[in-house]
Amino acid sequence: MTLDPLRALAALVLLGGLVAAAGAEPNYEGRKKCGSCHRSQLESWEKTAHAMAMDSLAPQARAEAKKKAGLDPAKDYRQDPDCVGCHSTGFGHEGGFEPKDPSKYLVGVGCESCHGPGAEYRLLHRKAGQAFEKNGRTMARQQLVEAGQDLQFQERCNACHLNYAGSPWAKASKPYTPFTPKVDPKYAFDFAKAVRSDKAMHAHFKLDGVFSGPPLPSFRDEFQSGAKPAARGSED
Ligand code: HEC
Ligand code: HEC
Ligand code: HEC
Ligand code: HEC
Repeated sequence: MTLDPLRALAALVLLGGLVAAAGAEPNYEGRKKCGSCHRSQLESWEKTAHAMAMDSLAPQARAEAKKKAGLDPAKDYRQDPDCVGCHSTGFGHEGGFEPKDPSKYLVGVGCESCHGPGAEYRLLHRKAGQAFEKNGRTMARQQLVEAGQDLQFQERCNACHLNYAGSPWAKASKPYTPFTPKVDPKYAFDFAKAVRSDKAMHAHFKLDGVFSGPPLPSFRDEFQSGAKPAARGSED
């Protein structure tokens, strides 16, 4: 068979388009939208290490830790593409953090870093919340997954916390985190322990059960059993 280079090229372009369409993810939008409905989680998150992650990239911040990891404590790393990806929300993705024109709603490890890019599923939250209020109807949680919401988390945590050479996480690729267990054993990442940290994770607030069915994070019942009542805002 002879290969017509033009047709081969056309086929490749078509294939690339299909792959891109299949893998298309919704846009990142920033925490303002989420926070207008989930005010309690927003206020709790603002006090966490994740909310302040960008501050650690400023000159002189965490100087001792930087020296130990072979970094220059005098340098400003807040626009460095080798750093910002794990200290901001959605860097390198549509709608995500742009070092040259940073939206304050994407600075730090925000809602969508863990819950997934929100442009589509937040519309379902609104719709489901309204239907639930009106007639008590619930929506299948599976629809959230199809709209890009992440209900399992661990892979997202790993992509920042276990992303270094020689990591137990098989998908590690550059740019790596400079803070590895080799630098200090305290940087080892234990998901089950970390997801319960009140230093890095927002507190949990009672859900009414607007969404139902699988998939549920394995720790949902545990977190909900200790949850406080939410002060819920509403989107303007
Ligand atoms: C228009 C208001 C609104 C917006 C905007 C919104 N949500 Fe929600 N969200 C809701 C409502 C209502 C529920 C159902 C709460 C319940 O069951 O009590 C919900 C549920 C959730 C849940 C629990 C889902 C489950 O498994 O039951 C998570 C997590 C969540 N929202 C995160 C977010 C994030 C992150 C964003 C921003 C990307 C966001 N929400 C934007 C209204 C909103
Ligand atoms: C976008 C990257 C990113 C994601 C996703 C992410 N983290 Fe983090 N995490 C960080 C960064 C950066 C810090 C350090 C913040 C600082 O001190 O400047 C951090 C800090 C922490 C800490 C505090 C460590 C300490 O000093 O004790 C814990 C615990 C933690 N994360 C757990 C998690 C868990 C659990 C998940 C997933 C549910 C997660 N993280 C998702 C980037 C991320
Ligand atoms: C692959 C993701 C990733 C990249 C890239 C990354 N970091 Fe981080 N960084 C993290 C995580 C995760 C933590 C939290 C580690 C912990 O406490 O367990 C962290 C923590 C830090 C801390 C706090 C350490 C401490 O002990 O106080 C500083 C400072 C920091 N990073 C600076 C940088 C700089 C500068 C760069 C670029 C040269 C960078 N990071 C690139 C993920 C990353
Ligand atoms: C570092 C990861 C991480 C970040 C950042 C994060 N969340 Fe969560 N969130 C979680 C985990 C883990 C749960 C518990 C999982 C569950 O029960 O569904 C959760 C649960 C929730 C819930 C369900 C009710 C509750 O309180 O447990 C809502 C709503 C929510 N988050 C909203 C937000 C909003 C809004 C933001 C940003 C202001 C945010 N989250 C930031 C990890 C994160």
